[in-house]
Amino acid sequence: MDWGMQNRLARIIKPEDGRAVMLAVDHGYFLGPTGGLEEPRKTIEPLLPYADSIMLTRGVLRTSVDARWDRPVVLRVSGGTSILKELSNEDITVSIEDAIRVNASAMALSIFVGGEFEKNTLVNLAKLVDEGERCGIPVLAVTAVGKEMARDARYLGLSCRIAAELGAHFVKTYYCEEFEKVVEACPVPVIIAGGKKIPEVDALTLAFDAVQHGAVGVDMGRNIFQSDSPVGMIRAVRAIVHEKASVEESGRVYEDTKRVKARRAAAS
Ligand code: 5RP
Repeated sequence: MDWGMQNRLARIIKPEDGRAVMLAVDHGYFLGPTGGLEEPRKTIEPLLPYADSIMLTRGVLRTSVDARWDRPVVLRVSGGTSILKELSNEDITVSIEDAIRVNASAMALSIFVGGEFEKNTLVNLAKLVDEGERCGIPVLAVTAVGKEMARDARYLGLSCRIAAELGAHFVKTYYCEEFEKVVEACPVPVIIAGGKKIPEVDALTLAFDAVQHGAVGVDMGRNIFQSDSPVGMIRAVRAIVHEKASVEESGRVYEDTKRVKARRAAAS
């Protein structure tokens, strides 16, 4: 891996502990104005100080994030479909020049193993890796799961391994039972997505279990920005990922943050 590639990856997966807290706010690229992200700037600004990096599209980056903020950007570069159509029919939607222009620390693309357009998404990944290698920008493969696909170790392990074989520098997938098998069979770092909103304690347990079983971190979206205390949640996730907090300890971080904010609001 060349210097630029290593340097960019180190901005996302912190060399001090080999862990990463990514804030995922790219949902609008196929879901439109997702709950909690209707006004991206309002959602993103209070959370940025607690995220190691932020994953988003160039449109939201340019319109809703202050360019003077020093946070690494994982740029979503695949898309071209909406929730109304076949989701696997994605293409590469951003040129490498534009990724460089916005100073991306990594580029993210979804692959749909088992999906109708599986081959296109896998070939797109390989092409993006070629471009990334040429310019020193790492590629995050997102193992998107079709409606009919099981989120189990066999399927997710297959997807992660194929992504790594095609040259992805790190992979994002879902947590599942026997997750360690997914991680063991994947020769590049694995990060988990949060998935649909679930109760806070369950989302924190998910993050805890994932890092216990070998994930280098989380790229969480809805379970942070749809929480009744988004800052509380990202701080709690941070405590798990970087400070080895237990689920109970991280739960206290969430509750305390929420309480302080409520008290301030009542006093003002
Ligand atoms: C969509 C994505 C999202 O970034 C990913 O799903 C993470 O967000 P969440 O925690 O809400 O699942 O890659 O394809």
